[in-house]
Amino acid sequence: SFASAKIAVHGWLCWGALYLLAAGVSLTSETRWPCPQPCRCNTVLLEANCSHRQLITVPDGLPKDAKLLNLTNNKIKALAQQQFQLLTHILHLDLSDNDLVLIEVEAFLGLQNLLTLHLARNHLKFIPVGAFAGLPKLKILDISSNDILVFLDFTFRDLPALQFLTAADNDVVFISSQAFSGLASLQELHLDGCNLTAVPTEALTQLGGLRSLYLYRLGLTTLLNYSFRHLERLKELVISDCPWLETLSGRSLFGLNLTSLTIQHANLSAVPYIPLHHLVYLVFLDLSFNPITYIHGNQLGDLLRLRELHLVGGSLLRIEIGAFRGLLYLSVAFQSVGTLRNLGLDNNPLACDCRLLWLVQIRPNLDLGGNSPICTASVHFHGLNFLDLGEDELPGVLTCRPARILTMKRQEVRVDQGHTVVFHCNAEGDPVPSVYWLNPQLKPVSSTGRIWALSNGSLEIRFAQPQDSGTYHCVASNAAGNSSLPASLQVRAFPKSFRHPSHLKGWFFPSGTLLIAVTIGLMSFFSSVSVCFIFMFFWSKSKGQIKHTATIAYVPRRAMSSSKGGAGNHTETSRFTMKLI
Ligand SMILES: *[C@@H]1O[C@H](CO)[C@@H](O)[C@H](O)[C@H]1NC(C)=O
Ligand SMILES: *[C@@H]1O[C@H](CO)[C@@H](O)[C@H](O)[C@H]1NC(C)=O
Ligand SMILES: *[C@@H]1O[C@H](CO)[C@@H](O)[C@H](O)[C@H]1NC(C)=O
Ligand SMILES: *[C@@H]1O[C@H](CO)[C@@H](O)[C@H](O)[C@H]1NC(C)=O
Ligand SMILES: *[C@@H]1O[C@H](CO)[C@@H](O)[C@H](O)[C@H]1NC(C)=O
Ligand SMILES: *[C@@H]1O[C@H](CO)[C@@H](O)[C@H](O)[C@H]1NC(C)=O
Ligand SMILES: *[C@@H]1O[C@H](CO)[C@@H](O)[C@H](O)[C@H]1NC(C)=O
Ligand SMILES: *[C@@H]1O[C@H](CO)[C@@H](O)[C@H](O)[C@H]1NC(C)=O
Repeated sequence: SFASAKIAVHGWLCWGALYLLAAGVSLTSETRWPCPQPCRCNTVLLEANCSHRQLITVPDGLPKDAKLLNLTNNKIKALAQQQFQLLTHILHLDLSDNDLVLIEVEAFLGLQNLLTLHLARNHLKFIPVGAFAGLPKLKILDISSNDILVFLDFTFRDLPALQFLTAADNDVVFISSQAFSGLASLQELHLDGCNLTAVPTEALTQLGGLRSLYLYRLGLTTLLNYSFRHLERLKELVISDCPWLETLSGRSLFGLNLTSLTIQHANLSAVPYIPLHHLVYLVFLDLSFNPITYIHGNQLGDLLRLRELHLVGGSLLRIEIGAFRGLLYLSVAFQSVGTLRNLGLDNNPLACDCRLLWLVQIRPNLDLGGNSPICTASVHFHGLNFLDLGEDELPGVLTCRPARILTMKRQEVRVDQGHTVVFHCNAEGDPVPSVYWLNPQLKPVSSTGRIWALSNGSLEIRFAQPQDSGTYHCVASNAAGNSSLPASLQVRAFPKSFRHPSHLKGWFFPSGTLLIAVTIGLMSFFSSVSVCFIFMFFWSKSKGQIKHTATIAYVPRRAMSSSKGGAGNHTETSRFTMKLI
């Protein structure tokens, strides 16, 4: 018919043009892309993937305009001088997971555009001065998980643009005082040295622009006064896994203006009030996994902006009255409060709801110091004194209504491919529960995309595909409990003949696309319906109202004569959808 002929012509033109275009692209790039035999090259992304190839040296004949060269998981032992000389366009070089023991001076010379260099998980023992010569644009350097013992003076002098350096998981014994000189742009540094018995203060003074410093596994027993001189821009300091660190000298953090401080997995037996007190911009303090037993009164008052205090995994026995006095925005995370005996919570605006249940549970063994906490952040019980409440009144005051899904009826939907499905989920509770969805793989569904969780709690699956089939779960949760509801979806695929119409893919109009799917062997049926549909399209356009879909029921003769679709007898699709987009 007229319609199918026109569709065929359009289809041919379109696919033909695409084919020629693709052929042209691969032809021109093939000539410029000599890919060494063991590697696989992506000529569109300009990437050479030589990973997992048992290479013992860097292969010759790498494509000159490659942007990424991936040499991970090989057995490369050494990098020679000017090893990558010709790869001037390369942006990312990954040499992780090799057997590198030696990097010669000027090994990377010529890589003037390189942005990231990964050398993690090799066997480097030291890095010669000049190894990183000729990398003026390098931003990210990863030399973690090697066996580096020393950093010599000027090791990194040729990296003026470096922003991120990680040397975690090395056993650094010595850092020379000029080791970091030249790293004018460095913002984040990760260092690890179980044999360093002091913070490498001198070396760090070179890093005036540093914003985040991570120190792992240092062998320190104490932090000396002025350990972090000249790090005025530092905002975040993390000291972790220092099992011998017992004290912080009074002026150890002097000169710093931190917003975030973590000292965890150490041996601090008290909150270091004096070293902290000048950190008036501190927002986040994490002293977890230290044997801290007491929080004293009136000591943290200078930390005006503190919002979070983490003391997880400690051994708290006593929190004194006024411990958090003046800290208006603080939220505190404890764990294992079972051992807590004294708690001062006066002058804290408490939200008296079920989130305080833990306090009720340990109340019989708890000394609240006479000054009872007051419920202020709760509308119903404003000004209520926590201690004045009798045992029998408490459960009523600390209302705890676990999250509850209102309609617990299991939702089951079977649709044909291409339909839109909405599952509902309404929940209530006190505090108001949060509602989220898990997909059949039990991963949370995000609030964007084809399958998305709406803000009103519903889940919408647009243009359902067979692979979307499965059981989704709505989960409502608050501090008092969780509730979940399964919703199952089955999407029936178009029969194969629907999915691959041999002679037509689509028909392009100047102002819209008419997408037609048909079965083979129904030509006469198809042509009459499609002509009718096309007619409808123009007609609705002329009327200014566009009908977007038309579902046409069709019962194949075969299916009619067979049984009514029993378990073993799967009925072929008896409907199909036409869509105007
Ligand atoms: C590179 O090749 C390896 C196997 O040789 C493969 O596992 C990996 O997915 C490939 N990487 C990319 C980005 O194509
Ligand atoms: C190199 O390939 C490995 C696996 O093949 C991958 O994990 C790694 O992220 C790749 N590196 C880069 C820089 O793409
Ligand atoms: C570093 O310290 C560990 C113990 O903490 C020790 O076994 C190792 O030999 C030391 N390494 C060097 C190079 O001193
Ligand atoms: C931690 O400190 C206590 C005393 O304060 C001490 O007995 C213990 O040995 C220390 N732990 C380590 C790993 O140094
Ligand atoms: C550190 O400074 C404090 C306060 O100035 C001082 O009392 C203390 O003795 C100093 N500690 C050391 C080890 O110098
Ligand atoms: C300290 O840091 C805060 C914000 O992080 C900043 O506003 C303030 O100016 C800094 N103070 C000094 C003396 O640098
Ligand atoms: C949530 O919003 C979607 C789209 O706006 C609507 O289809 C759905 O019915 C709503 N759910 C409830 C429970 O109101
Ligand atoms: C809610 O679910 C989470 C994750 O499954 C679980 O860790 C938590 O204990 C549950 N809370 C309650 C009160 O049941």
